[in-house]
Amino acid sequence: MIEVENLTKRYGNVTAVDSISFVAKPGQVTGFLGPNGAGKTTTMRILTGFMPPTSGRALVAGHDVFDNSIEVRKRVGYLPENVPLYRDMTALGYLMYIAEIRGLRDRRKKAMEALERVRLADRANSRIRTLSKGMRQRVGLAMALTHDPEVLILDEPTIGLDPFQVLELRDLVKELGRHHTVLFSTHILSEADQVCDNVVIINRGHIIAQGSPVELRSQLERGQPIIVRVNAPIETVLPVVETLPDVARAEATQDGIRVFPASAQIDPRPVIARAVADHGWDLVELRSVAVTLEDIFLEVAGADHSAASDPNPELTEQPLEGEAAHE
Ligand SMILES: Nc1ncnc2c1ncn2[C@@H]1O[C@H](COP(=O)(O)OP(=O)(O)OP(=O)(O)O)[C@@H](O)[C@H]1O
Ligand SMILES: [Mg+2]
Repeated sequence: MIEVENLTKRYGNVTAVDSISFVAKPGQVTGFLGPNGAGKTTTMRILTGFMPPTSGRALVAGHDVFDNSIEVRKRVGYLPENVPLYRDMTALGYLMYIAEIRGLRDRRKKAMEALERVRLADRANSRIRTLSKGMRQRVGLAMALTHDPEVLILDEPTIGLDPFQVLELRDLVKELGRHHTVLFSTHILSEADQVCDNVVIINRGHIIAQGSPVELRSQLERGQPIIVRVNAPIETVLPVVETLPDVARAEATQDGIRVFPASAQIDPRPVIARAVADHGWDLVELRSVAVTLEDIFLEVAGADHSAASDPNPELTEQPLEGEAAHE
């Protein structure tokens, strides 16, 4: 369990994290979703007991990160943004060394178990420099697992991996979520959607939304968008559809016209169907589409963004999945 209450961190006059509160529950993967500079790493470093907060409180596995950081470190496994690995050591040698630093007994057994959990036992005796990036990331994950901690804090573990390695790592994280409290940061919305039971969205040090992916979708003020396809030119149909009473706005997309209802309670499909018939067109398709986390993020971050002064291009440019956005 991770319990964060009004946590604030200032670096000089920069407020990196501004009074955030959230809970990450055992047996779940909690996503920490936000663009560059949102405050994800800062929060995670506080939660692992590496850095004190400026104010507020955080309990990790029942211990205060500030008053009791030694107890916290025993119960938390941390995969930092840049994993420090000794490239000339073997995977097994490195993990045994980590087990030694942690003062564990049965070091070889603990190291092998950790390698098995990240499905790397067959490369135990390979030197780290001969492993692929995805494998090295898994050695990092094994490092976080050697002491079988209750809580796992993983800082953007999929960055820089190829699409297959990304899928593999996401599966692994989901599996770990069944037995641990996992806090998993990412700036990729679809990743949070796929991997996480709960998502905390952070932007510029503020939490702007939190809940399960399903709850986040239903929190949206507007209802489900509708896709309309008609056997008439889009330029003719669009002005008709967008001026219908139940419609907030409409836009042309590759799939057809995407229509946003005037409110969450309104289903504009009957009105659209009637208007199409009145014009003598044939309706080819009329269906509602799922709201993605991306829609939500753009909406909430957009609202937060307009209240702030300096622009942040990261909010509108969503990186491709598996793309090495930064390192
Ligand atoms: N050591 C530091 N000294 C001063 N400012 C810092 C320091 N570390 C982070 N910051 C600032 O705090 C804010 C939050 O940074 P943080 O690294 O926590 O964000 P992040 O969400 O992890 O971003 P990214 O996705 O790029 O990793 C940024 O404005 C950053 O410039
Ligand atoms: Mg970071």
